[in-house]
Amino acid sequence: MIALKNTSTRVAVLLVLSVLWIGAAHSQQPGSPAFDQETKKQEAIYHSQGENVPSGYVVGRSLLSYASILPVGFDGSLASLGPRDRWLDIGAGEGNAVLDYYTELYDSMHFEGRERRGTKAQTVAISIEDRRTPEWHETAARLEPGKIRYLHGKRLREYSAEDLGRFHLVTDVIGGFSYAQYLSVFMENVLSVMDLNATFYTLLLDVRTEVPADPSLYKDLLLLTEIEAPDGSEVKVCSWLKSISCVQVSCELNTEMKRPFELYRIQKVCEKVAVPSLVPLSYVAGTPPTRRYRMGAPRPDLLEALRPIDE
Ligand SMILES: C[S@@+](CC[C@H](N)C(=O)[O-])C[C@H]1O[C@@H](n2cnc3c(N)ncnc32)[C@H](O)[C@@H]1O
Repeated sequence: MIALKNTSTRVAVLLVLSVLWIGAAHSQQPGSPAFDQETKKQEAIYHSQGENVPSGYVVGRSLLSYASILPVGFDGSLASLGPRDRWLDIGAGEGNAVLDYYTELYDSMHFEGRERRGTKAQTVAISIEDRRTPEWHETAARLEPGKIRYLHGKRLREYSAEDLGRFHLVTDVIGGFSYAQYLSVFMENVLSVMDLNATFYTLLLDVRTEVPADPSLYKDLLLLTEIEAPDGSEVKVCSWLKSISCVQVSCELNTEMKRPFELYRIQKVCEKVAVPSLVPLSYVAGTPPTRRYRMGAPRPDLLEALRPIDE
């Protein structure tokens, strides 16, 4: 439960910091009634069913769709996992990408390495809401016990490291990385469940990319994830990721959808991971939500003021 306690403490610290540090400048900051209202709206999106599911909330992407949207290395990384390896899909929705991995079609399309893959890696799919389909249950019953697990009812940060274990491969296709309110806490949790040399493949829509995108793509565009430095200047998500210790990060511009989105490949190269904190400035519910953060170490006097809260 140590990881869980640390996570709760970090969220509490970020929450208080956002109030102390930023004051009332942003109406959607944590602790404000507007923030609570946005959180409720977001919950309603997660738990929407049938015709109430917003059209932008896509929960059924296939593995083919994951391979086409994630950085190029993902397909090869998954295909090279052996039966003792583990794959975590964060924000799995219906879990269709996981189900596709266990089909014969997958092996016929990835002939090389088929024998070494054997019965394939163990997979854990996480979703806040339970979107399992009859196909999920059928596949789980057909495979050896525990080969696929679907965890729901909690966010990534609410699991302890012991609950989840460690993984060789982690993916997030417009899941927690796009939706989390506390992005730096989310990233810490992802890295804490990654084995040494494991890789995290993910992406963000509508961001300022490291390789500049065509300026016309930003015309009338509401950026979904923004980070500012303590002096208010812009920090690109890619730069923030690259400032994390013990990771190797590559950021790749993709404009296929005629909107600026960036693909991230994050490899953990040593254990002493330190993620620069991002204090939430605002969060507006959506598919995905709109988030703004301030990056940087808190002032020592604020840290002092915070000490009694987590003890
Ligand atoms: C738009 S759906 C994407 C589903 C799937 N990846 C796909 O592409 O079809 C978003 C998913 O992320 C999950 N999610 C959002 N925030 C999360 C978090 N902090 N921890 C775990 N899951 C999260 C939601 O519950 C949902 O399953």
